[in-house]
Amino acid sequence: MRLRSIELNLSGAAQAADFLTGTWGLAPAETGADGTRYLRGSGPFPYLVALTEADGPSIRCTTFVSDEAVVAGIAARARDAGWPVQDTVSADPGGGAGILVQLPEGEVFRFLYGAGEVAPITGRDLPVKLTHVVMNSTDAEWTATTAERVLGFRVSDRTKGMVFVRCNTSHHSVAFARAGHSSLNHVAFEMQDLDAVMRGIGRLRDSGMAPAWGPGRHGPGDNAFAYFVAPFGAVVEFSTAVEIVSDDYHVGAPDDWTWPKNRIDQWGISDKDVAALAAAERNFRYRPLTV
Ligand SMILES: [Fe+2]
Repeated sequence: MRLRSIELNLSGAAQAADFLTGTWGLAPAETGADGTRYLRGSGPFPYLVALTEADGPSIRCTTFVSDEAVVAGIAARARDAGWPVQDTVSADPGGGAGILVQLPEGEVFRFLYGAGEVAPITGRDLPVKLTHVVMNSTDAEWTATTAERVLGFRVSDRTKGMVFVRCNTSHHSVAFARAGHSSLNHVAFEMQDLDAVMRGIGRLRDSGMAPAWGPGRHGPGDNAFAYFVAPFGAVVEFSTAVEIVSDDYHVGAPDDWTWPKNRIDQWGISDKDVAALAAAERNFRYRPLTV
């Protein structure tokens, strides 16, 4: 199972695409018949972000790719659990078929099989792929343990703020934040290495944008990070080198992940604009799946 893409609705899709293909560093992929803009990274996925013009910000879905048997298993367990499930054939680049599933707090995840890939882009400093998507939750603990049972995901770590969940050997592809409300927290893009993260920060500084948090290195997942509030309202992250874990990874508890006073990452060199991040983390809400 791999996290592939996030599909967003928003007003000002063209300007958002300009930012993400300009300063942020993605490449334009194609434009759909409905005007949806698809943006890709350097890796083999046909796109990482879809931007569809709408009245306001919402998440159409978050897309994972796997094989038919895995998707069928999720469909059966989700239907048993009473979750809304809709069979789907993807009209997005790469195609594929599968299901749309609505999690209990409203998050819509799409699981595709048979989705096509494209030739990687070499020699350019693009984000490679999405590395994780974090969802704000009213009950992150329950959502995460439910995702284990129904989706076959595994909890990797718990902190005071989040429950980190994996769907392969990467420490987390999803996290559920203990936010007290339901919305998109942030989207993280995998960079080739730490230098690529730092060059990305430099590109944003050149355009007048400072990190809202970072650069730093997280505890859970051990990944380096830099967070920004994008002009289109979402929180986006450059990240790299998330920890690869095995089946017997020890699931950490909040008490395993504490920091000394005034420290919120391994390096301790940056401030966090808590207010700006908290405001932006409320912008993209879930869009209910109608089955
Ligand atoms: Fe992150």
